[in-house]
Formats: sequence, structure tokens, C-alpha cells
Amino acid sequence: CSMVETSLPFYFGWFLCPTQQEKLRNMANEFLSAVGSLEAFKEHVGDCKYELMNLQQYFQDKGVLHCTTKFCDYGKANGAKEYAEKQVVRESYGSKADLVLTALFLTPRTLGAQVSLTEAQLQLWPEDAEKEAVQSADLPRGSRAHVTLGCAEGVDPVQTGLDLLEVVLQCQQGDKGEHVQDLELGPLTYYGKGVWMVKLSEPLNTPAIFSSFYG
Ligand code: A2P
Repeated sequence: CSMVETSLPFYFGWFLCPTQQEKLRNMANEFLSAVGSLEAFKEHVGDCKYELMNLQQYFQDKGVLHCTTKFCDYGKANGAKEYAEKQVVRESYGSKADLVLTALFLTPRTLGAQVSLTEAQLQLWPEDAEKEAVQSADLPRGSRAHVTLGCAEGVDPVQTGLDLLEVVLQCQQGDKGEHVQDLELGPLTYYGKGVWMVKLSEPLNTPAIFSSFYG
């Protein structure tokens, strides 16, 4: 294989600073405790596969918290080389960005945070990230942006963005879910099939570094 292929990372993304990671993990734990103790959650638990009600154990940590921009798979993924060679990618490498986290969600598969990208941050977002996941729909660019906070056993982190897009798609189709109640973090909505989302009444601003992971 060529030098170019071997020098491409596993993925590019924004990596949260350690103190921010801890802050977000604490927030996620708060979210899990609040949702897990709701009567409404217990009533809906049969809709999915949550086994014991301990959600903190149900979702396994997936390492350093980040928002993936481009999954390159060391060059094997479509468009990896083109992405790595983009001027904006080269110029932004190593720079700081302030990510805005606007919601936390959990599904029977994943636990994640929704990221609302700014216009400048969208420059680093691959053109086809949403289309690659949901071919049939016209989803706003950046709507897949997220931080994976945990996955159920046997589930890969790539699922988190797909779960988020399902909610976005459902809303786009006019199904705004069922407002359950207001948590301390913000209003909680149930979207059916074990999917819960809290919209943060105070979005979390998180400094992060645009970089890559080689593994
Ligand atoms: P995510 O960005 O949702 O966390 P893994 O450990 O499964 O190999 O994945 C490594 C990272 O790359 C994770 O951050 C993961 O998801 C992301 N990722 C894996 N596969 C894909 C894919 N096909 N498209 C986009 N991102 C991916």
C-alpha cells in the first residue's frame, strides 16, 4: 500500500478537552438517573431491550469523547483521501473550536449528545455524511453531528449518529414526539421505540481540538 494510504487516520474529528469530557459525562449521568427514575420510562421499558434498569451499566464507555467529522478507516472509506487533502482540513488541523451541544439522547442502542455546528464548523463537515446514512431523505447538513457517550453491549459507536438521524427524520416528517416532562436539564421528549431526548435549556459550550485519531 502507498504512503498516502498508510498516513491517513482512522478518523478526523473534534476532541473534547479532559475537563469538558468529565463535565459532559457528569451531565450524561444526570440525564440517565433522571430518565431511569421516571414512571413514564418504566412504563415504556417494554418497548425496547433495556434489561436491568441500571442505565449507567447498560451504556458502555467508548473512550475519548469526540465529534467525528470524517471516518477514514486509514484510507479505506470513500472520500477519505479527498477529505484529508482539503485545504480547510489542513488549515484547521490542531485548532480549537467551540462546539455547542444542544441535546442528550438515549435509545436501546446508544447514548449521545447532539452537536449544532456553526457555519464555520460545517466547512469541515463532509458533504455526504447525511446522505451516506439515509439515502432517501434530504436532511440538513450537519444533522448527524454528535458525541457518542456510550453504547449498549455489542453495538458500535457509528450507530449513535444513525440513531440521531432517525429522530431528525421523524421530526422532519411531522412527528414531534410526546413531551413527557421538564427535567432540570430541559424538556424531555419520548419518540417511541425506547428513544428519549432532552433538549438542553442551557446548551453546553464545549471547547474541542480539531485533530485525528490513528488508534
Ligand atoms: P461515532 O462518531 O458515532 O462515535 P469504531 O470504534 O466503531 O471503529 O469507531 C471509531 C469512531 O469512528 C467512532 O467515533 C465512530 O462513531 C466513528 N465511525 C465508525 N464507523 C463510522 C462510519 N461508517 N461513519 C462515520 N463514523 C464512523
